[in-house]
Amino acid sequence: MTATNGEFAGKVVVVTGAASGLGRATALAFAREGARVVVADVDAAGLAQTVDAVRTDGGEALAAPTDISDADACISLPGKAVQAYGQLDVLCNVAGAFRFDRAPDITPAGWDKIHAVNVRGPFFIMQAALPHLVESAGSIVNVASASAFLGHAYLAHYASSKAALVNLTKSLAMEYINTPVRINAVAPGGINTAMTASSVMPEGIEFPLLMRYVPLRGSSDPEDLTDLILLLAGPRGKSFHGACINADRGITAG
Ligand SMILES: NC(=O)c1ccc[n+]([C@@H]2O[C@H](COP(=O)([O-])OP(=O)(O)OC[C@H]3O[C@@H](n4cnc5c(N)ncnc54)[C@H](O)[C@@H]3O)[C@@H](O)[C@H]2O)c1
Repeated sequence: MTATNGEFAGKVVVVTGAASGLGRATALAFAREGARVVVADVDAAGLAQTVDAVRTDGGEALAAPTDISDADACISLPGKAVQAYGQLDVLCNVAGAFRFDRAPDITPAGWDKIHAVNVRGPFFIMQAALPHLVESAGSIVNVASASAFLGHAYLAHYASSKAALVNLTKSLAMEYINTPVRINAVAPGGINTAMTASSVMPEGIEFPLLMRYVPLRGSSDPEDLTDLILLLAGPRGKSFHGACINADRGITAG
């Protein structure tokens, strides 16, 4: 196990989207800092690999297979962590649904799927987690996207869902301003994960419209972003509340 400060020793952390990419890296990072991690994802096989990786690293993890497009499953997720470990200290909403579509091709079902995973699910997980987080003086970190801050061609559903997640973060931060809970977000640009590797460009798109979003300083690896997530989640981040930190290598700089 990598030597750490044990910043989250004794804490219980729920991470969604933990079967791969940034979610898995986040779960591993919290576990290395001593947290017991409850990892949630719709991909049960990927979750099992994450649990194995945490345990191989000397940490403690529990898999909670969850389809975040199912609101009832979201509502029950925080209780699973409390049932297993007696408390909840941090919630990280990392899971995301992504695809490129030309606006005329977006169906109601396709729109609803993206918004269910990226906004509705995180809301109901937060709603169920907040009573526990008030009790523990805990925190929430939501993973938005640079797309929340730019009109993004061929991502009308995704970009609008991430913009909604940023405002949801700020709205709940205001509603809970008189409690000890802190609620923040990060907005990455490109990350080298399955999401980008597997994305398919629809036929008939105008490629020059996508040049605006090409990261001039390249993409991040998931591990480049976990320090920021842990900073926001823990005591070192006590000045952050209702913030969304852009971590996009300059995409939204100009
Ligand atoms: N990859 C990028 O370039 C990029 C850029 C900006 C923001 N993000 C955001 O970062 C977050 C992590 O994405 P990633 O890059 O690690 O991609 P990823 O594909 O590796 O991980 C996304 C995870 O979300 C899970 N997921 C999808 N639908 C789900 C559902 N219905 N229920 C439960 N889990 C579900 C997937 O199974 C997967 O494990 C996402 O919120 C994404 O929108 C990614």
